[in-house]
Amino acid sequence: MSDLEALRGRIVEATAAATSPDMLEIVRVEALGKKGTVTGLLKELGRIPAEERRERGQAINALKEEVSAAIDARKAELEAAALDARLAAESVDVTLPARPQPDGRLHPISQTMDEIVAIFGEMGFAIAEGPDIEDDFHNFTALNIPPEHPARQMHDTFYLRAKDVGNRMVLRTHTSPVQIRAMQALIKGDGPDGLPLRIIAPGRTYRCDSDMTHTPMFHQVEGLIVDRTTHMGHLKGCLIDFCRAYFEVPDVPVRFRPSHFPFTEPSAEVDIGCSREGGELRIGDGDDWLEILGCGMVHPNVLAACGIDRDIYQGFAFGMGIERIAMLKYGIPDLRTFFDADLRWLKHYGFVPLEVPTLIRGLTP
Ligand code: PHE
Repeated sequence: MSDLEALRGRIVEATAAATSPDMLEIVRVEALGKKGTVTGLLKELGRIPAEERRERGQAINALKEEVSAAIDARKAELEAAALDARLAAESVDVTLPARPQPDGRLHPISQTMDEIVAIFGEMGFAIAEGPDIEDDFHNFTALNIPPEHPARQMHDTFYLRAKDVGNRMVLRTHTSPVQIRAMQALIKGDGPDGLPLRIIAPGRTYRCDSDMTHTPMFHQVEGLIVDRTTHMGHLKGCLIDFCRAYFEVPDVPVRFRPSHFPFTEPSAEVDIGCSREGGELRIGDGDDWLEILGCGMVHPNVLAACGIDRDIYQGFAFGMGIERIAMLKYGIPDLRTFFDADLRWLKHYGFVPLEVPTLIRGLTP
């Protein structure tokens, strides 16, 4: 039996010496493969005298099992070590800064929203949200646009298929329904004592319109203040401050032009001063005007539709197109390019994401 002992010693030694799964596989084949040493011993059993065969057979099988277990154990060891090495090699330190430099860019829409939020946030406005898929009541009726009102036609509304035409769903045509939701939430929650209500609502809006200057989806930001005393003077001051901060032109001329919206009374459109020389637009001087937003004092019917006492409370609202003011500030000539998903465009007009707009450090790099 000493030959078995010697063989066992050699295989166990070779197993321990194997430092890779490939080396170990060679050891296994040499011992336990079809032509392996241990397999060979089993084959030879037939030639052994019958009285010795049983004992010898048991000894060889024991050897086979022992060797096989040793190889399996070593295999597990090598695999665990390989995994550890791979994990160590592939580990990433997520706390390191982006290198060699951050490559992604923020879309001008995101940047412009961040700038708007920074300015109104500083003034004490909170952010409110509403659904893109609205019901007729929030998008129109509660905003003093009853069924059959001519203003409905001007909205080029996308309607969703409905069983009940009375309250069919629409893709919101403006962010003004968020005014209604904010006032309803106020009434449901802590009541009018939660006043002043002071929110802005940036988001997507939809109109069935598509040409050089219109896309079926675009973005607006809505603003709303409701309390007992806010008047038109506050509206003007707030929006003049906004224009100066946003366009980063401290003396930009701002003009309030009488206008009409069903949900505000009185209503105005706001223009900023600009010049156009040789096709180049300059904001801040010159004798030309550019319209940038709509605004007005919240119509008493709108307050009443939300359950707010129209004889006690008042406020103002405004709404502006985000693409439009982004194009004006950043000299982007074509609206449709915003939605082309063209990486070269994004590289040119996009913003470095780590440079967060603030009024203290500056809105833009
Ligand atoms: N909702 C109006 C629009 O889409 C803008 C607006 C909002 C006007 C709030 C006045 C007050 O054109």
